[in-house]
Amino acid sequence: MLRVYLDNNATTPVLPDVMEAMRPYFGEHFGNASSIHHHGQETRAAVERARESVAALLGCRASEIVFTSGGTESDNLAIFGLAQSGGHVITSTIEHHAVLNACKHLAAKGCEVTYIPVDGRGFVETEDVKRAIRSNTKLISIMLANNETGGVQPVAEIGRIAAEADIYFHTDAVQAAGKVAIDVNKIECDLLTISGHKIHGPQGVGALYVRKGTQLEPMLYGGRHERSRRAGTENVPGIVGFGKAAELGIAGFELGDDRKMAAARDRLERELLEIEATGLNGEGAPRVPNTTNIYFDGIDGEALVIALDLKGLAVSTGAACSSGAIEPSHVLTAMGLRPERARASIRFSLGKQNTAEDVDFALSLVPETVSRLRELNPVYRTVVSK
Ligand SMILES: Cc1ncc(COP(=O)(O)O)c(C=O)c1O
Repeated sequence: MLRVYLDNNATTPVLPDVMEAMRPYFGEHFGNASSIHHHGQETRAAVERARESVAALLGCRASEIVFTSGGTESDNLAIFGLAQSGGHVITSTIEHHAVLNACKHLAAKGCEVTYIPVDGRGFVETEDVKRAIRSNTKLISIMLANNETGGVQPVAEIGRIAAEADIYFHTDAVQAAGKVAIDVNKIECDLLTISGHKIHGPQGVGALYVRKGTQLEPMLYGGRHERSRRAGTENVPGIVGFGKAAELGIAGFELGDDRKMAAARDRLERELLEIEATGLNGEGAPRVPNTTNIYFDGIDGEALVIALDLKGLAVSTGAACSSGAIEPSHVLTAMGLRPERARASIRFSLGKQNTAEDVDFALSLVPETVSRLRELNPVYRTVVSK
């Protein structure tokens, strides 16, 4: 059976060159990067080369990169590393749960949290961020690109506001890395999160950019790994693969991968929007090139995902962890979608491995599957005429 994967915001396949770069570090190069003998020196050198590559992707110094176990840990380290009880944190209503639930935990420990709302396009108003600042505000954490809609926030403006107010600024760039060029100095952020498996690297590895001079309280206590910012023996094969994926990400911009991806996404989107009673979620917002989120009124999104999967097409209703949950997406409802429309929404997200034929395959399946599911829904006509 032909299988096409258009759920790259959940995870991306490891590219062959990444696999090849990692392979020796599962075998012959097995040393602990903290050991002083030959074996340790070999893996230490590989970790430091990967650090240079990840730093190059973000426009920072290698010493400002802290390797972690992924996006979730990096988000948590940024938040818990800077905010404590008695302080105040500003975030948005459409963040990933790695940020939202960390903030919820902070609130339970006595730290105040302000959630900035978004407009219908999923956009944070920078004036709202400015107004939310208080004398005890320690941190602003607003994501660069949203995982469900791909919408890109005005992070450079927020970074300027934070810098002027002398407040730390963290941005979750997990869904932006490799898709749009990132320069931490243009964003003026103090912390920035990325994850290996969203850029065609392996799962279980990520990084937090920590601007030089930022006093971060560690979450893990142990050895002096990662300049005492993250204790624990480094995941050498994972870090090497992450470094290779970062290199390929940089090369991809030179090859115009982002433009090609946007063209494929735009064709998919244009043709899907020709189906009756559909619409684009987040229309009018700047977006990363690989994502489109579309509502199909009168459809249950979960049912559509399952029906398409049975025919070989993998897509998603949004955040992977929400699959199976009855709650509609917190991102789409924050953008003002009524719950039925949020539940009728599907995310299509492309990766570097996708071809024009993959888009053709999706276009050969989605319209007929949508109309079959609508035929099974006796109230469909009533729903669309509302
Ligand atoms: C925006 C965003 N932040 C954080 C994460 C968590 O990253 P990880 O899966 O590496 O823990 C994800 C994963 O979906 C994400 O999309």
